[in-house]
Amino acid sequence: MARRQRTPKWLEAARRRGPEDLAADGRADWLSRALGRAGVLPRAEAEAAIREGRVEVAGRVEREPFAPVRPGAEVRVDGQARELTARLLGLAFHKPAGPVVHGSDPEGVGTVFERLRAVLPEELRGYEWLAVGRLDRDTTGLLLFTNDERLVRHGTSPETHLPKRYVARVKGCPPEAALQALRDGLVLEDGPTRPAGARLREPDVVELTLTEGRHHQVKRMLAAVGHPVLALHREAVGGVVLDVAESDWRLLREEEVAEGLGFR
Ligand code: URA
Repeated sequence: MARRQRTPKWLEAARRRGPEDLAADGRADWLSRALGRAGVLPRAEAEAAIREGRVEVAGRVEREPFAPVRPGAEVRVDGQARELTARLLGLAFHKPAGPVVHGSDPEGVGTVFERLRAVLPEELRGYEWLAVGRLDRDTTGLLLFTNDERLVRHGTSPETHLPKRYVARVKGCPPEAALQALRDGLVLEDGPTRPAGARLREPDVVELTLTEGRHHQVKRMLAAVGHPVLALHREAVGGVVLDVAESDWRLLREEEVAEGLGFR
C-alpha cells in the first residue's frame, strides 16, 4: 500500500493564510524555526512565546508557530525588535557517556541537548542546536551541533561519505585477518559496509574510520568479526578533531565547516 505523505505543518499554515505569505523566492521559513535558527529563542520556547501572544510580526501579534515568515520580516519578541537573519554556526561538543542524542527522554537519563545548554554562554542559548548525527548513549567523543538543518542533512547524508574516526576497546585481541575484513567491508543485516580504515592501537584497541553512519555500525562491525565493543569513543568527523575536555565545547571555525566538513 502506498504511504500517504504528511503535509508539513508550515505548509498547512501557509495554505490557510493564502499564497501572499510565501516569499516569491520560496525562502519563507516558519516563525518558531526562524527564531531558533537566528538565536532568539530555541524552538520549544519560541512556540510557547508565540502561543502566549508575545511575538509580533509586522506589527501584528502572531499566535501560529508555523506561520510563514520572510527573511527581513519585522519581528518583535516581548516588544523588542529581533533580527531574523541567521549566520550558520557549528560547534564541537565532547559527549560524555550517559545522555541520549534524542529530543525525547522517556527514561529520564538526560539528553545531550540539556548537557550542551548547561555549558553554553547566555548568547548561544537562544539557538535551536541540532545534532549532526547520533552517538549511542554509552559512546563518548565528538558530536557536532549546528543551527542549520542543511548542515545536518549534509553531515548525515549517505552520499556525503564524511570520514568518522572511532576508537574502540574490544573483547579479545583482533588478529590481522579481522582487521582486513573490516577494511575490505563485510556484510551486515542491512547490507555490505563500505571499505574502512582499520588498525590496532593496542592489542585490544581498534581505530576504525568509516565513511558511512549506519545505526550501531561500529559495534555491529566489530561484533561481526568476533570482537564485541566494550567502550567506544569518536575522535574526529571529517577534518574536525576533538580537542576539548569531556562535556566541554567550542565553536567551529568557518574553514572547518567549509573544508573540514566540505559544506559550502
Ligand atoms: N557506531 C556505533 O556502534 N555506535 C555509535 O555511537 C557510533 C557509531
